[in-house]
Amino acid sequence: MKLRSAHGQCMLAARYFDSADIWQQEQSRIFRCNWLLAGHVSALPECGSYFLHEVGRDSVIVVRDNAGNIHALHNVCRHRGARLCRAPHGKTGPVLPCSYHAWTYALDGTLQHAPHMQDVTGFDKAAWRLSPVALAEWRGFLFLCLASAPQPFDVVLPALAGRFAHWPLAALRSVHQAEYEVAANWKLLFHNFSECYHCPGAHPHLNKLTPYRNSDNDLEEGALLGGPMTMLNAQGSMTTHGGRCAPPFASLAAEERARVYYYTLFPSAFLSLHPDYVLVHRVQPLDAGRTRMTCDWYFHPEAIAAPGFDAQPAIEFWDLTNRQDWTLCESAMRGIASSAWTPGPYSELESQLAAFDRHYLEALGEERA
Ligand code: FES
Ligand SMILES: [Fe+2]
Repeated sequence: MKLRSAHGQCMLAARYFDSADIWQQEQSRIFRCNWLLAGHVSALPECGSYFLHEVGRDSVIVVRDNAGNIHALHNVCRHRGARLCRAPHGKTGPVLPCSYHAWTYALDGTLQHAPHMQDVTGFDKAAWRLSPVALAEWRGFLFLCLASAPQPFDVVLPALAGRFAHWPLAALRSVHQAEYEVAANWKLLFHNFSECYHCPGAHPHLNKLTPYRNSDNDLEEGALLGGPMTMLNAQGSMTTHGGRCAPPFASLAAEERARVYYYTLFPSAFLSLHPDYVLVHRVQPLDAGRTRMTCDWYFHPEAIAAPGFDAQPAIEFWDLTNRQDWTLCESAMRGIASSAWTPGPYSELESQLAAFDRHYLEALGEERA
């Protein structure tokens, strides 16, 4: 087991977890500046397919047009502000109509029709298109950035550029999505995912398959942090029965088929690459003390189409693990808010939390005290 030092760091001060002011700073300096994972191309199979992604008070429509191109547009009518799409995902027609006064937009956001506005002197439809949002695709995963002049995706997330090149990520499909609301600050969720110190006590079913010291971090600084854990059963996977739910991805080396790769992707996601499926957690802060977690279980379409395919053992395994983790994060959140708590020291098993905190403070524009 290779471990880097936690550099003698302690937890962040309590205010980073429960202050509304810091949460507001995070919104402007982190969530409105960084590229955020919003979903996967497989959720947009045809013209008019869309899903919404919320960031703070903003709602973004991610939609595929009839040429197959994907657009990200603010879900705000340019007339008097009504939401164009209300359901979190679905299929619109060939256009995006506003249900308030029937202004109608093409799927690339251009305003096509605005009843009675031709009588308004100087009204120019071209000036009233839906506001676009920057969109980037990385191996089938769609990322958004709300900044008006975003830094290029590859510059902000350089560690992703050459990663997982031989995993068939773009071809995968989600077979199940679960959404959870956790009464804890979003950073506690990142912290929780970044160590297995808690696994023997909290997740005996997981620790049985990957003993907690079987980890080997290979990214230890920056926006992408994590590394592999080796399974005791080289033919296994992280499921309720310990076996695989599908054949391993054909492109993986023997060594990779015996591992699970866990990464946190600042500030919006966790990636868990198993030999037979990929689990993705999306992290969306709702306020300082509440976080929406959305989990997708991605499999290869050939595995999904095979007779007898059953993803339940993978779904149940992580649903149980998730719920155990949320309970712990909520418990820590309550403790941090109490008058008795002062930041505790990190162990050497928590070096990734220390690295996360360093990256977080830099993103927030603060020096560590
Ligand atoms: S608010 Fe959309 S048409 Fe009026
Ligand atoms: Fe956990």
